[in-house]
Amino acid sequence: MVNAASNQERPVVLSGIQPSGNLHLGNYFGAVQQYLEFLNKGFQCYYFLANYHALTSLRDPARLLEMTRTAAADYLALGLDPKRCAIYRQSDIPEVCELQWLLTTVTPMGLLERAHAYKDKVAQGIPADHGLFAYPVLQAADILIVRANFVPVGQDQKQHIEITRDIAQYFNTAYGEVLTLPEPYIPESVAVVPGRDGRKMSKSYNNTIELFASDEEVKRQIYSIVTDSAKVEDAKDPNCSALFAILRLFCTGEEQSEWADRFRRGGLSYRDVKQAIFEHYMKLFGPARARRRELASRPEYVEDVLRRGAEQARLVTRPLVREVRAAVGIP
Ligand code: TRP
Repeated sequence: MVNAASNQERPVVLSGIQPSGNLHLGNYFGAVQQYLEFLNKGFQCYYFLANYHALTSLRDPARLLEMTRTAAADYLALGLDPKRCAIYRQSDIPEVCELQWLLTTVTPMGLLERAHAYKDKVAQGIPADHGLFAYPVLQAADILIVRANFVPVGQDQKQHIEITRDIAQYFNTAYGEVLTLPEPYIPESVAVVPGRDGRKMSKSYNNTIELFASDEEVKRQIYSIVTDSAKVEDAKDPNCSALFAILRLFCTGEEQSEWADRFRRGGLSYRDVKQAIFEHYMKLFGPARARRRELASRPEYVEDVLRRGAEQARLVTRPLVREVRAAVGIP
């Protein structure tokens, strides 16, 4: 983890969250944990709900509203502290769309044609709309508008950060050094969180372990992690086990080697490993789950946090856009 410099200019961290449904272990270990680390290190953090981005894949107004609120409560429950970071809705910052337009005018078509999300859709024969094509430019605006230095994201977002850097460079080449180039922050160890079936944990594979499902549902999900047919007494290879791969997320290095030994030694029942995962899970997420239940009864508090978060962010986004407008010759 990078360190916060000791001068007053605190490094700026930003990340965007697609409000796309029930959070799971992959979201936690792959993203939220990094958000919290940056927060605890005293960086200037901006974490926002990317509801404009969500429109590229969701056309259900009631659901978009609901998912954005739910996501805000989820992240607050997990410890994103509104006193120490700005939490806001993308759509509450009008400067984002304004900057996006200014950026589109320096963005080559070819740069966007190479973007995975767009390329994949076209390759599947699905007609892409302009929103999907322009998605990376909106993301660049999100990032550049607060002069982010670090962007904690999953491996799948690496290309978007590279595109952001390219766009910033095109702009700076044309108009002078106005924009700050961000760096992706993708810790190696957590780049991929395995799911219940051993593939990458993902909602679209239906192999998640959720953070805020009921106790019974969480238990069901954990107990359905795939195992092979090895008997209790058999020696087991931890490196071929989805169970071990999930368990280790919760363990220190030392605990991991102890468990690996127990796997190899034989005499370990998969049920006991599942029980251990369930206990680790409840210990880690119990407090957040309780806070989440409490927040469900205070929607006005969540709304207030988002409103204040946007006000705080706009202290930075307004002057940034003013500077960019001046640079291109717009009064
Ligand atoms: N595209 C990101 C995702 O799907 C969400 C996102 C939008 C984002 N804007 C961002 C992430 C800015 C980091 C920075 O997960």
